[in-house]
Amino acid sequence: MTKSFDLLFGPVSLLCVSAILAFPVLAEKPAPSKGETRPVPNAQLASKELNSKVEKLLKQMTLEEKIGQTVQYSAGFATGPQGAKVSYDELTEKGAVGSMLNVYGAEKTNHYQHIAVEKSRLHIPLIYGFDVIHGDHTEFPVPLALACSWDGKLIEGVARTSAVEARADGVPWVFSPMVDIARDARWGRIVESAGEDPYLSSALARAWVKGYQQDDLSKPDSVAVSVKHFAAYGAAIAGRDYNATDMSDITLRQVYLPPYHAAVEAGAATVMSSFNSINGVPATANPYTLTQILRKEWGFDGFVVSDWGAVGELLNHAIGPDGATVARKALTAGTDMDMEGNLYATTLAAQVRSGAIPESVLDEAVRRILRVKFALGLFEHPYTPVTPSYEPSTANRKQARDVADETIVLLKNDPIEGLGAILPLKPGKTVALIGPLADSAKDMMGSWGALGDPKFAVSLKTALQEKLGDKLLYARGSEVLSGQDANVLRHVSFIDAGAGKAGAKEEPAPDETAMIAEAVATAKKADVAVLALGESADWMTGEASSRAHLTLPGRQEELLEAVAATGKPVVLVMFTGRPSEISWAGAHVPAIVEAWFPGMEGGHAVTDILFGDVNPSAKLTTSFPRATGQEPLYYAQMPTGRPAGKTDLSHIPTDSAEKFLSRYFDVDNSALFPFGWGLSYTRFTYSQPSVNKAEVSLANIAAGREPAVTVSFDVTNSGKIAGTEVVQLYVRNTSASVEQPLRELKGFERVTLGPGESKHVELPLGFKELSFVNVDSKWVVEPTTYKVWVGGSSLASAEASFVVK
Ligand code: NOJ
Repeated sequence: MTKSFDLLFGPVSLLCVSAILAFPVLAEKPAPSKGETRPVPNAQLASKELNSKVEKLLKQMTLEEKIGQTVQYSAGFATGPQGAKVSYDELTEKGAVGSMLNVYGAEKTNHYQHIAVEKSRLHIPLIYGFDVIHGDHTEFPVPLALACSWDGKLIEGVARTSAVEARADGVPWVFSPMVDIARDARWGRIVESAGEDPYLSSALARAWVKGYQQDDLSKPDSVAVSVKHFAAYGAAIAGRDYNATDMSDITLRQVYLPPYHAAVEAGAATVMSSFNSINGVPATANPYTLTQILRKEWGFDGFVVSDWGAVGELLNHAIGPDGATVARKALTAGTDMDMEGNLYATTLAAQVRSGAIPESVLDEAVRRILRVKFALGLFEHPYTPVTPSYEPSTANRKQARDVADETIVLLKNDPIEGLGAILPLKPGKTVALIGPLADSAKDMMGSWGALGDPKFAVSLKTALQEKLGDKLLYARGSEVLSGQDANVLRHVSFIDAGAGKAGAKEEPAPDETAMIAEAVATAKKADVAVLALGESADWMTGEASSRAHLTLPGRQEELLEAVAATGKPVVLVMFTGRPSEISWAGAHVPAIVEAWFPGMEGGHAVTDILFGDVNPSAKLTTSFPRATGQEPLYYAQMPTGRPAGKTDLSHIPTDSAEKFLSRYFDVDNSALFPFGWGLSYTRFTYSQPSVNKAEVSLANIAAGREPAVTVSFDVTNSGKIAGTEVVQLYVRNTSASVEQPLRELKGFERVTLGPGESKHVELPLGFKELSFVNVDSKWVVEPTTYKVWVGGSSLASAEASFVVK
């Protein structure tokens, strides 16, 4: 992974350093380098040559043609509520549309593109956007699972394959990566995120952008990204999708903005504004985030597209009396393209003519859009050659399986008396596979499978059948949801919503009591029971899929407990898009595997882990609660005046010393499985960490490109088989002008070791890792003492410290 701490902040100016030397109280965020008024994160978009082409074209455009560039329609299926159908051929010919989404495939994309390029007056190509989220045709694990690899290279590879496939589909622009920090498992879109931590999410955001864009948008197999959803969408109050967010500027800048910033710094060509409001101002009409921060502070030269209908939804946010007002607010705040909101198309012209919107504001939006079209080479190569329809190649399958192998988290593997650890499963045993997710190829495809076809997906049942033949027994055991809900779920799908309701009415509710009894009988015939439980991938996770209960849905918990009561050893395999509340399993089931939605090779990958053909290495990037009421739950908690400290929280408070603490009356504060957690079939041990300097000067931290201090330690594989450990470094600033989290991740590395092998690891800390946002909204480092811990999860206990003076 990239460890150079100057990536986020760039070099420090001499001026800044001398100011620090004169007043050594705090070191500030470095200013842009000499001669620049702002950073230039994407040199292609800023290039003179490209911009002179943009200006030349802009001069020739009529008002209507300019507005056309800011308009995006879905000429395919709907990924949100949709308005009336229009003739896209006609609009394209008039130059009244600049972009389309949900149109893919050479034939369809070429159709409109021919009209745009050959029949419209200025021959400006359309830019097609599409939700390629965790693969286009080759389906990889969902983003939350990918993040559990803690492996930037792996994610770059996923983005690369996705880009190649998208481009072959005529799509040069993907609505990915989603880099919203997600700390609330009730929010369905946590599945699209990298989890709760800004440092890790930033590192992975850079990898996504690099993989998609290759630092060169003009390459024929690069796609432009759309970093979403800007901003702080993941902090929706109460985990309810589309809800408002409300937070301090410090939290916004220190926790929520860093991954977007990292993506912009990596050259992201576009950004998508979010549905939510931030401190009362809708993100799609928010000049503070869209102009002040994104353009002025970060130097972003690409364009901002609204989320689906978000400009129109400003009316529901009630920040204006009519469509014209809210469209003006969105455009002037910095939303350049209106995705399926139908307001830029209908209200901007009159407002520019009347002077309510200065034409220069519209020109700037058009400039930003044209820049990306030029940079992608769409003017030179607008069409897509027709290629044979997709069939997964051996290489695609291998990549999908290798990737999934790295994303499956072994949460628990306790020894059973007389048997030892159940996992890895021993050959020759009879396995009872039970559960509604066991034979669901469709759910393996995840929450947003783009063009992935479930017929190419391998379910766990299929994979285990290949491995075990007649040693595999199977019972479905229950539905995902129970009663009529089970029938509804069978028929609905995110992309094809609506088809289900009528059909569901005609069906009798499944007899789950009988199904559970059958599962119990099946388990009794086997040596071990593997339960495949969880959520429906596309209807219960992802967009508009908030849940108030994080327990196993339907009667799955009852199924689990009934099978466990047989006394057979049980392995619980969870197929979910979020951390679940599985306290009973945590206490009573000896082996638990979190498989997420592992993609088209999911069944094989889970089998690899269950049988130890692959030694698990993934680590959680979201905390698993003991009870849903703990949400939002994350490891980087702030200190309180009444910390629970070392008090035993496993029982109700028995006196005032136990009671008047920051705690729950009825559940332990801690996570059931914390951030960074994940087991292996081998064991890793850590030496005491040491720092190369016990004292570091403030000026050093701010000034150098070199790390200010290096933390080093040895990690040893003390077990009997090879394995990979994600070593993690956490820091705590113990005395700052603004209180800081009890610990924060500030370094990590994947280390692969043979049995008995050790590695000396050095993790650097610089301005990026040690700074925080102060009350003036500035990134600063102050004199303080930092504690550091290294280990294999956020519970890391091997400790060192250093002083900053
Ligand atoms: C709405 C979703 O919020 C966003 O993530 C997606 O890219 C757009 N719809 C387009 O489908």
